[in-house]
Amino acid sequence: MNLESIQAAEKKLLLNTYERNPYLFTTGKGVYLQDENGDQYLDLLSGIGCSALGYGHPALEDAIIEQTKKLLHTSNLFFHEGTAELALRLTEISGLDRVYLCNSGTEAWEAAMKLARAHALKLREAGRTIGTKFIALEHSFHGRTMGSVSTTHKAKYREPFAPLIPSVDFVPFNDVAALRAAFSNEHCAILLETVQGEGGIHPVSPEFLTAARELCDSTGALLIADEIQCGIGRTGKWFAYQHYGILPDVTTIAKPIAGGVPMGAMLCTEAAASAFTPGMHGTTFGGNPLACAAAIAVLDIIKRDDILAHVAEVGAYFIDRLRTLAQSQPAIKEVRGLGLMIGVELNDATLAGNIARELMERRIIINRTSDTVLRFLPPYILERKHVDIAVDALSQLLSLHESNNTAVLAGGITHG
Ligand SMILES: Cc1ncc(COP(=O)(O)O)c(C=O)c1O
Repeated sequence: MNLESIQAAEKKLLLNTYERNPYLFTTGKGVYLQDENGDQYLDLLSGIGCSALGYGHPALEDAIIEQTKKLLHTSNLFFHEGTAELALRLTEISGLDRVYLCNSGTEAWEAAMKLARAHALKLREAGRTIGTKFIALEHSFHGRTMGSVSTTHKAKYREPFAPLIPSVDFVPFNDVAALRAAFSNEHCAILLETVQGEGGIHPVSPEFLTAARELCDSTGALLIADEIQCGIGRTGKWFAYQHYGILPDVTTIAKPIAGGVPMGAMLCTEAAASAFTPGMHGTTFGGNPLACAAAIAVLDIIKRDDILAHVAEVGAYFIDRLRTLAQSQPAIKEVRGLGLMIGVELNDATLAGNIARELMERRIIINRTSDTVLRFLPPYILERKHVDIAVDALSQLLSLHESNNTAVLAGGITHG
């Protein structure tokens, strides 16, 4: 099937949940995707942060192929070789004690929310005063299930599905005073993305994270850091919270963990983990042999090739080049980022939409989030030469729009 026939069939057969761009990718190598006509696209989005090692990485491919030949799935009724190996690695890099494996970010988040409720119940049974409410942040995105979407801020994602979980209090992002005012022993957890992704690439401030940690410690509530987008190397450290020197009680990961094979995980302290007993939570596919083999390979490759240092270095170069561009481009409001999680906020939503589309037409893949923010989540193997291609293209496009605007303005003045 070609692009046109796939588009026609999907329009008829699939639920109308995605607005896909009209491109059909059939293969990929390194940081490039290739479409049905053989054209190459520089991918600065990596499947929304998942294809961390790019495409066709030999060691990852080998690990997946080897596992495919051995065993794809057995269920959580039995042991297999991958889960303990993966959990060993995840606990070592995170500083947390225990791991729950699942299949997606939303599922990991759902597990974290349930753990917070179960943990609070355990504390209540031990005579402590702690409630069942959650604190979440404005502009947060935690996923789409009924639980996850209850803690996701955007009205568009929430309102059609009301009534949601009623006990979620939203606090303005990075507003320490508001957090202190809102928090009480009615809350079982403070929920936050260490770096907000869909909300427009906003790192939480050290003051806010410190206050959240202190407040949770004061009542026994859990501090839960969603690192589904910012974790597993994306910011140049294994976890974004490691930039702050603050350990959450729980963190959730997904996107890059298995390099494009669907997987999620919730990691937590021993104390939090003890709230779950057999039967309280589970999933059929979670932590299956294929996903575990892929995740082990991803973590081992990142470690072996010192990829965290590379992400930090090339990310700093990228941000630096964008900030230099911002000085000469009034359309850029702000450049934000950590490692290879980068947002360029423009002053105008229409312009941001046009630039994202025009970059795509120039075979550079990015996306727009939060209306005005150009989002870059490239594969970790990105090199400086790719950054140069992207920033030069962005610079050209912004200049083109700037001169068009000036022409319109000049025309207006002449005719006025
Ligand atoms: C911070 C964050 N949390 C949760 C999710 C949901 O993850 P998934 O789409 O894998 O269910 C996402 C997805 O974009 C995310 O960025």
